[in-house]
Amino acid sequence: MFNLKESQKAFDEAKKYMPGGVNSPVRSYPHMNCPPPFIASAKGAHIIDIDGNEYVDYIGSWGPMILGHAHPKVIGAIQKAAEKSTSYGAPTCIETELAKLVTEFYPTIEKIRLVSSGTEATMSALRAARGYTGRDKILKFNGCYHGHGDSLLVKAGSGAATFGSPDSAGVTKGTAQDTVVVPYNDIETFKQTMNDIGDTIAAVIVEPVAGNMGCVLPKDGFLETLREETKKHGTVLIFDEVMCGFRTSRYGAQGKYHIKPDLTCLGKIIGGGLPAAAYGGRREIMNCIAPEGSVYQAGTLSGNPLAVTAGLMTLKEIQSIPDFYEKLEEKTKKLLTGWKNAADKAGVPVQIHQSGSMFGIFFNENPVENYDDSAASSWEQFKTWFLSMLEQGIYLAPSPFETLFMAYAHSEEDIERTIQAAEKAMKKVAEIK
Ligand SMILES: Cc1ncc(COP(=O)(O)O)c(C=O)c1O
Repeated sequence: MFNLKESQKAFDEAKKYMPGGVNSPVRSYPHMNCPPPFIASAKGAHIIDIDGNEYVDYIGSWGPMILGHAHPKVIGAIQKAAEKSTSYGAPTCIETELAKLVTEFYPTIEKIRLVSSGTEATMSALRAARGYTGRDKILKFNGCYHGHGDSLLVKAGSGAATFGSPDSAGVTKGTAQDTVVVPYNDIETFKQTMNDIGDTIAAVIVEPVAGNMGCVLPKDGFLETLREETKKHGTVLIFDEVMCGFRTSRYGAQGKYHIKPDLTCLGKIIGGGLPAAAYGGRREIMNCIAPEGSVYQAGTLSGNPLAVTAGLMTLKEIQSIPDFYEKLEEKTKKLLTGWKNAADKAGVPVQIHQSGSMFGIFFNENPVENYDDSAASSWEQFKTWFLSMLEQGIYLAPSPFETLFMAYAHSEEDIERTIQAAEKAMKKVAEIK
């Protein structure tokens, strides 16, 4: 029988020592009236909590675990690397190897800098853009989350939206004033804004497939317009592919939509489950970074040998499997067809979105194209869905402002089990008006 007794005890203890009992807000299961399962271990597509409940995992550590948990080759490589030391703080050949491999996935990246988190990647990319252009302002889109750097916590998605604080306390007015916000997918407002102040904007930063207001896809012409307008105004276009990178297709979102940004931010999969991230792009912009240029950015653990090893092994494994992305996309389609049928059978209106192996569901009868549409979806129905799935051993993100991920390790059986659970859950959702 499903219960979270041990997790409840662990959560109560954790809350004494850490804000909300967690080290990243959404992990605390906001608004769910149940403790988060405390995790004991995970293998492949399955995750086990300290009460002994086993779940099929569609969070995948919020994106990195594209191969599944504890992949033998990744673990083996990390173990071997760890025996030589966990950190040197000095150059290694594997950093160059990873840099080279990333450019095979991302031909727009001519030079790259490795960092330790997606937040660091986006903050640093913005600093590079400001240094390169000599301008202060940046433009972001409502509901996009780019990590917790000050200038990006304005109308932010993900946990910031879940907790009702998309504009974080602690960000100075001066910083917030330099951030211009436009609705996602709103081509006309974007064009008008660029027309008015484009020449003062250092960078436009965007999630080319948005994953932090739920999974929201770019409308036809949206990304093209960003490219045209930024080029016209000498503004740096930054694709934040921390989430959708190595995910939506073999060449990321930029490959899927055939747009060449000036800079790209990567994270999650590039570290194979350890803390690594990166930013890179056009040579002339990256040459502004210290020690070549005057934009300062550094890191004690940047290029950490364990994280680089895990990332390298993950990317090599992806490369070695024929039709890796096609297979992953096919599995995702199968699951979502099952969810849609379950919703239709129960008479529950939903919007289901997929880009490669990123996906999400909105309890909304209208199309979802931006943050306001996403926020207008039913929280009550989402909560019922989420809790019913959890009780049935399906581990989903505990907020409608998050995205779900398929791993290569998910089996036909996992997908079938998840569809069956969805049929039961949708019947419960149908009872909520
Ligand atoms: C698109 C995007 N950018 C940046 C970040 C921040 O990455 P990190 O949590 O590694 O700092 C995230 C995190 O989820 C993200 O989804």
